[in-house]
Amino acid sequence: MDKFVIRGGKPLSGTVRVSGAKNATLALMPATILAPGSYTLHNTPILRDVTTMSRLLESMGSAVSRERHDLRINSAGISRFEAPYEHVKKMRASVYVLGPLLARYGQARVSLPGGCAWGPRPVNLHIDGMRKLGAAIDLEAGYIVATVKKFKGARILFDISSVGATGNVMMAAVLAKGTTVIENAAMEPEITSLAEFLTNMGAQIDGIGSSTLEIEGVDELHPVDFTTIPDRIEAGTFLIAGAVAGKQGAKIRVEECNPRHLGVVTSKLEDAGAKLEIGPDFVAIEPPDEIRPVNVTTAIYSGFPTDMQAQWIALMSLAAGTSIITESIYFDRFTHVPELSRLGANIALKKNVATVIGVKELVGAKVMSTDLRASASLILAGLAARGTTEVLRVYHIDRGYESIEKKLRDLGADITRRSGGEF
Ligand code: UD1
Repeated sequence: MDKFVIRGGKPLSGTVRVSGAKNATLALMPATILAPGSYTLHNTPILRDVTTMSRLLESMGSAVSRERHDLRINSAGISRFEAPYEHVKKMRASVYVLGPLLARYGQARVSLPGGCAWGPRPVNLHIDGMRKLGAAIDLEAGYIVATVKKFKGARILFDISSVGATGNVMMAAVLAKGTTVIENAAMEPEITSLAEFLTNMGAQIDGIGSSTLEIEGVDELHPVDFTTIPDRIEAGTFLIAGAVAGKQGAKIRVEECNPRHLGVVTSKLEDAGAKLEIGPDFVAIEPPDEIRPVNVTTAIYSGFPTDMQAQWIALMSLAAGTSIITESIYFDRFTHVPELSRLGANIALKKNVATVIGVKELVGAKVMSTDLRASASLILAGLAARGTTEVLRVYHIDRGYESIEKKLRDLGADITRRSGGEF
């Protein structure tokens, strides 16, 4: 198993380019099930989760190939309508195939995802949504077994705003008979981008980007080419790298991102004392002389993303004072806290609230990455720490950050990947 060895304390500066958004790509790829034919998804990040989704689509009969960041999918050969446990357990986003399979083929057998490192992650809203549109669904031996003759438009009010359920139901509704209204729909940029992709394919969707989506079903859709939006979480992670490990008086310029998608992350960084320059497709950051403590509460878009909470705690570990970080989306998402503590961070955790008492310095140690964003936070802490940090089990980071060690090395970090060794 690979690990990263980081010799901390090397001040970072320079330019880094953001890759395409993982979570956008993972929604676009299953949408190709909706119309047979050939698609090219430009700016697709090279990530393990994208490979997992490719394998899943191939197992159903699609042909998937890649030339650098162009992902080609031909969905004409789909003949199996199943997402087996072996794929879904690796990646929850596999459940996205449920809506498209039912909409196009009237049947689907999709494994339930089970839990993940930081608690239960239910799919009840996906299932309820499909039922409202007319699907018959049984849960059998860990699988969602679903059939429908033809979806019929319905009013669906989510009691929790869910990215995945909104995407899944939207993909189901585009081929339904009649009108579907989704209320309390997720407004995350990845969902907006999926809606735009579907519209390009011929779907009729009103209210894109808002919390109410009105979808008029059409008889058929057609394949298209599409460019994936930049990854806002990767962009935010590099900005935090600039704040926590940047070179005084120099900048890290995060390019090819969409600053509008960063929501409150940029203003929170300014609150922490970082100096930001925000352009149309870049953000440059100069680190604060002293990191100011800044409270955050995670929220749905355009609030502070839960996918940035772990990285924020890494930054606040070195703040000149105490900050309160409240996780309101996934209450248990704190597996990074004990690992950051091994590096010397002073964090008290009570339920979903982390109280971070800033320390003067972090000191390198061996730490274990437990999930994707936790890994990112450990790398950030390792970059800022004195001495050597080893981050074990970095396969988590390969799920969601393309070439992170190369990008960081280009900024001046001393980080190397070593294969084999300890678990
Ligand atoms: C997506 C992102 C993930 C991000 C999360 C929240 C992808 C592939 N993943 O995950 O990186 O952290 O959004 O921004 O895009 N919920 C239910 N029942 C359901 C579905 C969700 O109760 O059927 C709850 C969840 O437990 C959570 C909340 O809704 O508390 C939001 O989750 P959701 O937006 O669905 O997350 P994902 O789509 O799984």
